[in-house]
Amino acid sequence: MALCNSTSSLTQTLAPWRERGGKIGFVPSMGALHDGHGSLVAQALSENDCVVVSIFVNPTQFNNAADLEKYPRPFEQDLAFLKAIDPKIVVFAPEATELYQGEVQSKAYRFGPIASEMEGRHRPGHFDGVGTVLNLLFRAVEPTNAYFGEKDFQQLQIVRKLVELEKLPVNIIGCAIYRADNGLAMSSRNRRLTPEQLEAAPFIFKILKQAQKDFDKKSIPAIVREAEAAFAAHPILELEYFEIAGIHNLKTAYRKHPSNTYRAFVAAFAGEVRLIDNMGLN
Ligand code: PAJ
Repeated sequence: MALCNSTSSLTQTLAPWRERGGKIGFVPSMGALHDGHGSLVAQALSENDCVVVSIFVNPTQFNNAADLEKYPRPFEQDLAFLKAIDPKIVVFAPEATELYQGEVQSKAYRFGPIASEMEGRHRPGHFDGVGTVLNLLFRAVEPTNAYFGEKDFQQLQIVRKLVELEKLPVNIIGCAIYRADNGLAMSSRNRRLTPEQLEAAPFIFKILKQAQKDFDKKSIPAIVREAEAAFAAHPILELEYFEIAGIHNLKTAYRKHPSNTYRAFVAAFAGEVRLIDNMGLN
């Protein structure tokens, strides 16, 4: 399997594909790969001639130093995981200073209101960091198609905006959330949960499912109140936010408009581990 640690070696590896006019699929990741990432990689393999997976824990998108430090980095396992899916996958794992060409810092983007809701409100600077690293990665990989999970739905909308702002010639493809049988959305952070927290975490899915079931019958404020009350009574999970928002502007919704499409969004802590999830409601 090709492992490229620099942009120049990646360019060389991809040259034969580009010369043949092949489609290049790209799955950006921070590693600690799981079946959620695997589902994006499988889709990319089925729609492209060559697939690049980047593994890069991006310092500029962490607003919390301890979270960055504790982010799992099982690099050898990740390589084995990808090799088992398809040995032809190209892995791009650059050094921070090389990727950032000098100082590792974020650019200030004008993503508009989508960046100040939910994750933007609770993680200041996060989306500037995501936008900055993806702009650099897109310029290094020059993919035809890039794959992002709806697990990070707000990030997906930010990426669409980034591509518009930076005028990048890439198709952004959103992929469904991959869940464990008990409903828990797969996440690299799940590795940090204790067995007790891991058992408690599917509660997030249960509450989202309940909101989806209630959406036709109840008002948005009633659904939000009930979800908040359910979390308040939970012995292990601590809610940061439960919000219902329209999918385009991601602004907190209070009333339903028949022409709009809504999702419910959750961020909750299990101990120090911050988990996020979301679900379509209509
Ligand atoms: P990371 O958390 O590693 O996620 C990489 C991609 O996998 C993202 O598009 C994410 O939405 C997707 N993903 C994670 N869990 C998923 C699941 N259970 N189902 C479907 N897709 C899932 O998101 C990032 O990295 C970073 O912010 C990145 C985009 C790489 C920029 O640094």
